[in-house]
Parts: sequence; C-alpha cells; structure tokens
Amino acid sequence: MTEGTKSYLFGCHQFLIHPLMVILAWKRLYGCMPKSWESVCIFLHDIGHIGRDYLTYYSEKKKHWILGARIARLLFGQKGYALVASHTGQSGFPRSKLYYSDKYSWILAPIWWLRLNDKIEKFGEHRSLHVWRNLMIENFKNDCPKGSHEIYLELKERTNHMPSSSKEQSAFSLERKYQEIVEQKEKLIKDLRIMIAVRDNLIAELKRKLLHGKD
Ligand SMILES: [Fe+2]
Ligand SMILES: [Fe+2]
Repeated sequence: MTEGTKSYLFGCHQFLIHPLMVILAWKRLYGCMPKSWESVCIFLHDIGHIGRDYLTYYSEKKKHWILGARIARLLFGQKGYALVASHTGQSGFPRSKLYYSDKYSWILAPIWWLRLNDKIEKFGEHRSLHVWRNLMIENFKNDCPKGSHEIYLELKERTNHMPSSSKEQSAFSLERKYQEIVEQKEKLIKDLRIMIAVRDNLIAELKRKLLHGKD
C-alpha cells in the first residue's frame, strides 16, 4: 500500500476525519458552514493522495490535488475544479477559502489524532508534535501561510542535517524554547494589562483633580 493510500484510509488525510476538521475550520474562520457543493469539494480535495508515495517523493505530493479537482469539475464544473485546486499552493491556483481552512484544520485537530497519525504514517523523529503544531500556529499568522507539508519538510530538512544522537535532544530543546516563548508572551501581555490599568487610573485621578481644581 502506498503512503498516500494509507494516509487517505487511516492517517492524516483520512477521508472522513480530515474533511470534517476542514469544515470545522471553515466555520471558525468564516462564521458560516460551506455550501453543499463546497462541502463535497472539501471531501474530495485530498483524494489524490491515493496511490502516491507522497512522503518519499515531493513530486508525488505536488500532484495530489489533480484527481479531486477533476472529479469536482465533473460534478460542479470549473468552480469545483478551481476550489479543489486552490486548496494547495502546489497547483498554482490563487489561495481560496479552502486553502486557509485546510491549513487551519491542523491547528484545530486534536493532539491525540495527530499522535495516532504519527504512529500510522511514521513521520519520524523530526516531527515533534508540539513543535510542529506551534510552527503551524505561527505560520498561520502570516498573510501567506505555507502548507502543512512544507512545514513538515522544513522540520525534516533541519533535523536531517544533525547527527542522530542530537536529534532527540534538539526536538526537546526546540519544544522547550517554544514553551519559554509562549510563557514570555503571556507574561508580557499580563504586564501590558497592568500598565494599561495603571495608566487608566492615573488618567481618572488626573481628571478628578482637574474637576476639583475647577470647583
Ligand atoms: Fe491537500
Ligand atoms: Fe487537506
């Protein structure tokens, strides 16, 4: 069985779970459910992983949108083709609502399911889940977020250049660094809130004094 078929049947592109996560992401991002034809396209968008060794060969991953887009064209014409094609930058189509909800779905996906995907698809030691998820969150803040596969490849590339003994340690220290950054960010927000409260109190006090001064 190819990597893509396994992924589509049991892994991270599972034909029911992943589309449902994308629909949930769509609802969160746009405040409404996709239309019925859009929902069908969502269920079709990753079907082209079937029969492709998409983890081993990036060239295979790049073609994964084609089958779904062709089926969508048969069902809904050009708008169906365009919507499915636009879910990935690999098609060259402009980013669509499906593009963003597809990426956002990985931020919403439960960690237990991601862990199960790791076990099934054997992504390898480079994909420390928390690091990958944090990278996805940071990535999504960009105007043009990258695809989840590109983030996966970047992590893989980074760890492949390390001696194997330090990979585990590196994943651990990366994870710890992220935790530290998150904690620092929360502390900064807390400090900022306190400063705003102090500023508001000072303004209120000043106003009160000015009013009394006039009296
Ligand atoms: Fe895809
Ligand atoms: Fe997808």
